[in-house]
Amino acid sequence: MRVVVLPKTEGETVLESLEAMGVEHEYQCRSGYCGACRSKASGVVDYVLEPVALINAGEILPCCCIAKGPVLIEINEQSLTEGLSELIFFKKQA
Ligand code: FES
Repeated sequence: MRVVVLPKTEGETVLESLEAMGVEHEYQCRSGYCGACRSKASGVVDYVLEPVALINAGEILPCCCIAKGPVLIEINEQSLTEGLSELIFFKKQA
């Protein structure tokens, strides 16, 4: 499932935006080292920390980047919580 992340607070990472929206996205280090948060995404992001974990084209590390506009990110459907707010969903394309 893909959702759009719209940053609400200045300096908020994409991971923090997801959490504020009610998405429990996987993470461990929250500092760009482990790669646990690596996700397929499209949109423009700026890294606040230079990531150490490897990412491929079309992937981001949400824990250490800031959305510069709407970011379309792939999330696990089971990570959605009951406190969901302001999510825009896109069905997975076949
Ligand atoms: S949580 Fe470790 S790289 Fe993002």
